[in-house]
Amino acid sequence: MKVNLAYDGDDDVVRTDLHPPVSAPLANSRSVPVLYVNGRAVPPSIASRARPGQTLLDYLRNELRLCGTKLGCGEGGCGACTVLISSVRRSSEVEGGGKSKIVHAAVNACLYPALAADGRHVTTIEGVGSWKRDSILAPAETSTGDNKVDEGDDDRLHPIQRALADGHGSQCGFCTPGIIMALYGLLSVEDDDGGGVGPAVRASELEERMDGNLCRCTGYRPIWDAARGLCRSGHGGMVDDVEDLGPVGSCGTPCRECPSREDCVEECNVNANDVSLSYAPSSQSSSMVVCTTESNMREVRVKRLDVERRWWRQPYEMFPDDLLMRKTTSDVDRDGNGNEDGGTGVREFLSRPLVVVDASVHDGGTWFQPTTLVELLDLYRVHGRKGDGNGGIKMVVGNTEVGIETKFKKMVYPRMVHPSEAIRSLYEIFLSGTSLVVGGCASLSDLQSFCHDLMMTKKDQEGGEFDANLLRTALPTHNMLRWFASTQIRNVACLGGNLVTASPISDMNPLLCCHGASIVLASRPKADGGIERRRVRVSDFFLGYRRVDIGEIEMIERVEIPLVRSRFEYVAPFKQARRREDDISIVTAGMRIRLRPDEGDGDGREMHWIIEDVVIAYGGMAPMTTLAKGAMAYMVGKSFGEETFVGARRALLEEFDIPDDAPGGQAKYRMTLAASFLHKFYLLCVGELTKDVAEAAASGLTLPPVATIPIDEGDVEGFVGAPKPSIRGVQTYPSPRIAVGLEANHLGHHRPDALAAVDGVGKPAKHASGPLHCTGEALYTDDIPAPRDLLHGYLIMSTRCHAKLVSVDVAPALRIPGIVGAFTHEDIVTLGGDNRMGPILLDDVAFVPVGTTVDYVGQVLGIVVGVSQEIAEKGARAVAVEYQDLEGKAVVSIEDAIESNSFWIDNIHEMQRGGNVTEILQKSEFDGKKLVIVEGSIRSGGQEHFYLEPNTTLAVPSESATNLTIYASTQAVTKTQMFCASVTNTPAAKVVCRMKRMGGGFGGKETRSVFISVAAAVAAKMTNRPVKLTLNRDTDMSITGGRHAFLSKYKAGAVIQEDGNVKLFALDVQIYNNGGCKFDLTGPVLDRALFHIDNVYYWPHFHSVGIPCKTAQPPHTAFRGFGAPQGMIVSEHILDHLALACDVSGDKLRRDNMYMPDQCTPFGIPLGGKSTGNWNVPDMWDQLYTKLDVPGMRAAAEEFNRKNKWKKRGVGFTPTKFGISFTSKFMNQGGALVHLYTDGTVLVSHGGTEMGQGLHTKVSQVAAQAFGIPLDHVYINDTSSDKVANTLPTAASMSTDLYGMATLDACLQILKRIQPVRDSLPSNAALKDVAKKAFFDRIDLSAHGFYALDNDRCGYDWTKEKPEGYPDDMPENSWRGRAFNYFTQGVALSVVEIDVLTGDHKTLSTDLLVDVGSSINPAIDIGQIEGAFVQGMGWSTIEEVIYGDDDHTWIRPRARVFTTGPGTYKIPAFNDVPEIFNVSLLDSENPFAVHSSKAVGEPPFFLGCSVFFAIKDAVTAARGVSEYFEFRLPATSERIRMMCGDEISSECIGAASDVKSSFQPKGSF
Ligand SMILES: Cc1cc2nc3c(=O)[nH]c(=O)nc-3n(C[C@H](O)[C@H](O)[C@H](O)COP(=O)(O)OP(=O)(O)OC[C@H]3O[C@@H](n4cnc5c(N)ncnc54)[C@H](O)[C@@H]3O)c2cc1C
Ligand code: FES
Ligand code: FES
Repeated sequence: MKVNLAYDGDDDVVRTDLHPPVSAPLANSRSVPVLYVNGRAVPPSIASRARPGQTLLDYLRNELRLCGTKLGCGEGGCGACTVLISSVRRSSEVEGGGKSKIVHAAVNACLYPALAADGRHVTTIEGVGSWKRDSILAPAETSTGDNKVDEGDDDRLHPIQRALADGHGSQCGFCTPGIIMALYGLLSVEDDDGGGVGPAVRASELEERMDGNLCRCTGYRPIWDAARGLCRSGHGGMVDDVEDLGPVGSCGTPCRECPSREDCVEECNVNANDVSLSYAPSSQSSSMVVCTTESNMREVRVKRLDVERRWWRQPYEMFPDDLLMRKTTSDVDRDGNGNEDGGTGVREFLSRPLVVVDASVHDGGTWFQPTTLVELLDLYRVHGRKGDGNGGIKMVVGNTEVGIETKFKKMVYPRMVHPSEAIRSLYEIFLSGTSLVVGGCASLSDLQSFCHDLMMTKKDQEGGEFDANLLRTALPTHNMLRWFASTQIRNVACLGGNLVTASPISDMNPLLCCHGASIVLASRPKADGGIERRRVRVSDFFLGYRRVDIGEIEMIERVEIPLVRSRFEYVAPFKQARRREDDISIVTAGMRIRLRPDEGDGDGREMHWIIEDVVIAYGGMAPMTTLAKGAMAYMVGKSFGEETFVGARRALLEEFDIPDDAPGGQAKYRMTLAASFLHKFYLLCVGELTKDVAEAAASGLTLPPVATIPIDEGDVEGFVGAPKPSIRGVQTYPSPRIAVGLEANHLGHHRPDALAAVDGVGKPAKHASGPLHCTGEALYTDDIPAPRDLLHGYLIMSTRCHAKLVSVDVAPALRIPGIVGAFTHEDIVTLGGDNRMGPILLDDVAFVPVGTTVDYVGQVLGIVVGVSQEIAEKGARAVAVEYQDLEGKAVVSIEDAIESNSFWIDNIHEMQRGGNVTEILQKSEFDGKKLVIVEGSIRSGGQEHFYLEPNTTLAVPSESATNLTIYASTQAVTKTQMFCASVTNTPAAKVVCRMKRMGGGFGGKETRSVFISVAAAVAAKMTNRPVKLTLNRDTDMSITGGRHAFLSKYKAGAVIQEDGNVKLFALDVQIYNNGGCKFDLTGPVLDRALFHIDNVYYWPHFHSVGIPCKTAQPPHTAFRGFGAPQGMIVSEHILDHLALACDVSGDKLRRDNMYMPDQCTPFGIPLGGKSTGNWNVPDMWDQLYTKLDVPGMRAAAEEFNRKNKWKKRGVGFTPTKFGISFTSKFMNQGGALVHLYTDGTVLVSHGGTEMGQGLHTKVSQVAAQAFGIPLDHVYINDTSSDKVANTLPTAASMSTDLYGMATLDACLQILKRIQPVRDSLPSNAALKDVAKKAFFDRIDLSAHGFYALDNDRCGYDWTKEKPEGYPDDMPENSWRGRAFNYFTQGVALSVVEIDVLTGDHKTLSTDLLVDVGSSINPAIDIGQIEGAFVQGMGWSTIEEVIYGDDDHTWIRPRARVFTTGPGTYKIPAFNDVPEIFNVSLLDSENPFAVHSSKAVGEPPFFLGCSVFFAIKDAVTAARGVSEYFEFRLPATSERIRMMCGDEISSECIGAASDVKSSFQPKGSF
């Protein structure tokens, strides 16, 4: 045991004072910030705890205990931490003068420095509206500041909160406060028309700017609905003004825009015929509920009319008077100098510079906030601008670069300077003669709105005519900024920051270069001298990788962007990233060209256009922003035409030669993008010039003709200039009914409808925690109030793999003030604990023992605990670890594993039915019919769970650490309990694991969370103090594993029948998955892939083998779908391959080969009827096929493709069936404990965990229905191992099946016991009266319920041979048992459009039809479907996990995962959702689950791959040849672009003819 006894961790006692305040040159400085939060002034004693280096998020959560604001990533990429910063802009600061204005900006609190909030008002989710206030506290007690909410009004939720809670806009709820705050920021805009404050924003503006938040659960559609309903007008992007829309219904939705108008009975409903109706299955329509984006909006709008005006004034009314113009007296001693500041006024106080020194154990250095330029420049003169820890000073403006550097690159800046907004020259933006002048610290949002205003309002400026050149200057900047980071980042980040950082992939720098912008640098070299200014062109500013031409004492005062002057001058920005929104570019560019008409020479030379000037600047092509000087030189003076551009392209390729191992990878793609942008630029300029020439001709001018371009090359506009889509959809579900399912047979319960329940079974009840999610009052593990003596932990992690662990020396950590202890494997030995871990094989360890090997980068070696997470992290990094490399190189990929035979040999599983496929697949005909054979492979990449809440554990010891309570964010309560017990050598009965809710899990917290809990438990046990361990996002993503990557090799044959139909005949497939270095759940995941390789198709002869590969990646684990999607992707790929080889349409081949009822799967389950319930896939396929006119859609796509060379459309039509139940028999069990109280309320505890999937809501509905009480009379306890013991992880989508039944069992036991009492009372007696009487009659009102799936319906044993005498008429392989109870089924149809030149794609529409039986809660089920779909779409398109392997040698060390945060790993964002997103539930039933429902969590995931197949279809169209190609998954922009193949990519690849078939972008599989 190593405990630092010298220091008890009280940062009030021990203070370091390494950086005493520097008064000069800030002589009149103050030392205490002035902070206002949620309408109240933070008392100076608490404000003074804000320290340099601390983020606002840390301050809010840890000092003010405002835990509604969440930490999702800590790098500005998820928006979970969004808060609103409000400040006053004085009259001189407001454009055009006029009155002062309160301005609001949503920001990322995880980057925003706490001290930057000085003099501003911070609104957190707690200040917006409170659910608790509703029920617990009187309004007067809780009103936030001056919030003038009408007393007596009992609706305490802000309309945004109400809209999201009512509109099913939250699932796990972890992202929800951030999303609400982002919306609050966007909607809190003063109404320009003088009508006061209101949601003045148009939907289109919202669509433009909801770009800084991620949600991993919902699929965004319900959030869009809720948000749009609060806007001024209907669908943005299509119409801008309510008036444009014609009549508007009382619902607030413009009729012309409403797709459900045909059903609308309102009088205002006119002209019904000019809108197209979205899909709803006609056969079901009579009994279907149709729920549209618009009808959702209607509900929201009605609420809005009731309550909103006072709410929309809230951010203005909450704004502290102190910060407004008028002077207020203050009698506090704010600067801690012992004198009261009464009478000086807060504004005056604030006008003094701020100097704060961190005297705490955190040693954050000094923060300066000068208020004049002279003060600022004097600081530079005194300290220099190095800011590298050697005494220099670092300017911090938005902190969006510096914050990342300090947090992730561990840079230390002991002196930071944050210029006050009072230094106007740094923040102002204005037009001056020939330039747009931008202050060096002005926010990018201000620049964006300035450009927007220029574009919108300068039409009638002095010159009279609209200045087109102004537009040509402003538009590219505005457009580029639309895709620059996110609204939250743009609200704080500045142009100076972008320039000085000099990132090679900066978005603004190339554009500034192409505009010919220059930078004005200011300095004050002499204390008694004036300010000196130096001008440098942006294109000369960059000297090398992150090196710029800026002196030690200089800073950027302003940037001057010259206005476009010539009529024939065109500017365009280009950007391609992995994801459109909030993503750093792969390649970015700014291009400007000035053309001059050449009159001809009268010698027969035609009039033509000459390139007078051209600038082409790239980011992403070199270590710094670079001009393509060769190409530019080639072009100047030449005539404007394709030939010149082709020549320039060649010059470009000579100029830039990116080596394959260049950092960032994607070398050939980057080259191709650069060349493709140039081609796009040419085509765009032709379009613009053509328009201008036509306009000039109209006014009588004769100009040279413009080169014509082929008609199909006209549409090349990329997403940069296009409006963001408006997402809408129709959700359709059968009219709610209380269906009878398995409980009839299992529990003899036939009449659930005997008692009516409000929001009971079948109703679209709202998520039980919705209001708490929306107010930030829902508690997650990290929000649990800190117990006394709490310590924070940080893991000691291996920085290597494939090495022997020689020593771990924790002494350096223990020397750090604030560190309390450091524990390794030795301490587990001291405790007498068992170090072994693992869910199936005990092949993993809690802490790696010295002398053994480290198997992956990030493997846990121990834990350091200290007074804060920051300190603990410092300690963990100080631990000295020695390694000794093992021979050879680490096995990383599946190919590596195959090469070195690195498999879990005992877990190779095989399935065989029918004849010998090897023999069959050697033939060319069968039974006289032609046998078409194909052979190939398909790879699918891994996936990161990206639950918004990182793993967290709080371990609390009691009674001298003999007992432990573990609060964990886990799907596996019992596993957590058991391993914490065994590793710390504590009896399981003395360890309790509790879990209230998770911020998402998706399988990622099924096994990997346990390792985190165990580490905290060891430290808690050793110190006898509570220990909290919250993983940073990058740690979480580095060590917790994810979805397994797969490689499948196949040979398949189909028979061509006499009638021309093609029948699948034989399949032989080997599938490999990359399990990482420990077995974890690799075997079962692979098994499920094997069980789903057939998808919905019948193969008479079938052989599959699954081979789990052992590599040096972190252990991979469960992830929604659990291997099934990886299996189904194989069959869909093979069907495409066969369709091509047999020359039939893929749709027909699929439909002709779907299982018929009673046909058997290869693992022996007959489909349909008594076996699995109805087999609905063929019928669902037909319904969608007919209703949506799939042939028509395909024809329309073909037509589009014929007309467009550079844009292609594709259609993906994809079915799925998903097996429900755990394949291990013992796991199909669940328990519940139900208490009926004498007030008629019911408390349920069950073994399942709530991670957003709505399990608790559905189980509550089951209980409410059973007791016949309203839903809000049922409460669900946290999941706790002392209430329901020996639980299984919440997984396999099974939880409603298990815990719904177990709960119903318990309810029925109680009901049975109280029946005599009920009978003795009047028939209308309330439950509380029955319960009360039963209690006095000494009847037990509690029951434990239990459910185990029938023996003959679950459990599959791979090793079991066919027993002697097994009946021949039984299906093959059925002797091994039964893999699944039933199947959830579905079909999806998606249409996409790709940009051939860049690889960008957008999903135009998706229609889903899903069979989830009789839904217990259609709203929750639709939410699950949409969320799973979007997650599946992400996996198959933009989400790419990358490891350091042979294909990515620039990632070091080998085997390290590179994608460790939202910056490098992209999950779908708000605008990635299909533009039309319709979901229908089939009117169906299921006798094998509670209330005839079906499991829903995982099955729709695979339907997301319809987008992948649509992209593949579009890529096939672009390739223009009908030949097989392996289109690997995910379909990243790189794969799309490079697989399309054309003359441009061929030039870049350097391979000419066979490029289309052979080039494969790299990937990590
Ligand atoms: C989530 C996220 C997304 C992002 N997306 C993009 C993107 O899409 N495109 C892109 O190009 N960048 C992106 N960035 C990078 C970053 O936002 C920009 O570089 C931004 O412009 C930096 O501005 P800042 O005010 O935050 O700089 P800070 O972090 O405050 O400072 C950055 C550097 O500039 C210096 N500096 C700042 N202002 C001045 C000045 N006036 N004079 C002298 N030195 C100065 C600082 O001292 C520091 O060295 C992203 C960053 C994050 C965190
Ligand atoms: S936590 Fe701040 S953006 Fe993710
Ligand atoms: S509800 Fe958005 S992340 Fe879970």
